[in-house]
Amino acid sequence: MMQEAKILSAKFAIKNSNKLTVAKKHGAYQTLDKLFSSKQGDVIEIVKNSGLRGRGGAGFPTGMKWSFLPKGLDKPVYLAVNADESEPGTFKDRYILAQDPHLLIEGIIIACYAINSHDAYIYIRGEYTTQRTILQNAIDEACKAGLIGEKVGKQNYRINITIHRGAGAYICGEETALLESIEGKKGQPRSKPPFPAVEGLYACPTIINNVQSIASLPWIIQNGAMAYKRYGIESATGTHLFGISGHVEKPGVYELPFGLPLLDVINEMAGGVWKGRKLKGVIPGGSSCPVLTPEEAATATLDYASMAEHKTMFGSGGIVVLDETVSMPELAVNLTQFYHHESCGQCTPCREGLGWMEKILKKIVAGEATMRDLNLVRELCDNIEGKTVCVLAAACTMPIRALLDKYRDEFEALLKPEPTDAVTEASAEQE
Ligand SMILES: Cc1cc2nc3c(=O)[nH]c(=O)nc-3n(C[C@H](O)[C@H](O)[C@H](O)COP(=O)(O)O)c2cc1C
Ligand code: SF4
Repeated sequence: MMQEAKILSAKFAIKNSNKLTVAKKHGAYQTLDKLFSSKQGDVIEIVKNSGLRGRGGAGFPTGMKWSFLPKGLDKPVYLAVNADESEPGTFKDRYILAQDPHLLIEGIIIACYAINSHDAYIYIRGEYTTQRTILQNAIDEACKAGLIGEKVGKQNYRINITIHRGAGAYICGEETALLESIEGKKGQPRSKPPFPAVEGLYACPTIINNVQSIASLPWIIQNGAMAYKRYGIESATGTHLFGISGHVEKPGVYELPFGLPLLDVINEMAGGVWKGRKLKGVIPGGSSCPVLTPEEAATATLDYASMAEHKTMFGSGGIVVLDETVSMPELAVNLTQFYHHESCGQCTPCREGLGWMEKILKKIVAGEATMRDLNLVRELCDNIEGKTVCVLAAACTMPIRALLDKYRDEFEALLKPEPTDAVTEASAEQE
């Protein structure tokens, strides 16, 4: 029988767990004495040894990212916590923000101390108004209690936390667009290098980490790297908050160790495909991850390596289950519309290319397209990737290509015959 783990979600079911007194009663801020008695470099080592990988989508090792900060620079170091969470299918961070904001604050104290930062920004999705209020109240409580502020812990360490609200742009979750936005500019990604660890916020070294990555730190510091590694598998240690949505009986957020079979998780935790219907596909980690067919889903496990073997991505762990009634061409339109709308507009292949893809896919769904259109949209997927400043464009083309390749019959069934003059033209070209 599959059981939920309780590293991040330990206080989720406790009433008023977002209040400091309740959170403290259930173990919050117990790591601080240990933290401030440790050397900063040792904290980074513990995080490295724990194997923690970033939970924002790319799975980059957290401790390694921290160690990229240049040494001996006479500049402040900033921490930016990514709470933008705007990718369709992803809804895990909002639970931490609302149910256990003190876990995040404690994690921020740990991260700030480890990287020698005194100023942390939490970039929160604009629509998360309730979460922002809860988080601000928690920050105020922590400040009043001296847990953050001018003189924290044995070392009188200064830590300020500022919330910065987004304004509804998905692209501001991309780390460099997020920095631009905090600086008060248009949220457009920067070209890399320089990477933010070298030149980030206000041209100073900056670490950007996802909410869940930061919230994993208190448990790791409290229990040690080896204890953390007992959860999950060697290449993906610890636990993850899996958001399961779509056509399942019990959608929700489930904390589980990495490495479990995808279908077992869908069936045992989320109650399986709803209404006794058949499974048609699974998007494993948020809308940018290529869909898995039922056959592929049957052999996939919930970790980075297995998802890569299946030519998709672990992403944010936002699992979207699609039942037999889903029209894959309509899903393709829906996804492309989203990414095209969210394009920041600075790269032509993204701004224009996704627009063309959207138009052609709509034409297919309307029954007005021919085989040429279908081939063209497939070609566009290959031609857009790798030619843009950030990966938003690829976050659209990758899932669309998978839908086109894996469910091609469904797209072809909507096509109308090529007009006769085009057929003649095409055969003339061939000759
Ligand atoms: C278009 C786009 C949107 C993104 N949105 C988010 C987001 O909402 N939250 C997040 O943590 N990471 C998001 N990311 C990934 C961030 O750029 C970055 O890799 C992450 O915040 C790093 O944190 P981590 O190392 O803890 O995973 C996004 C990336 C792209 C390209
Ligand atoms: S790929 Fe799209 S979202 Fe990313 S920088 Fe270029 S135009 Fe902006």
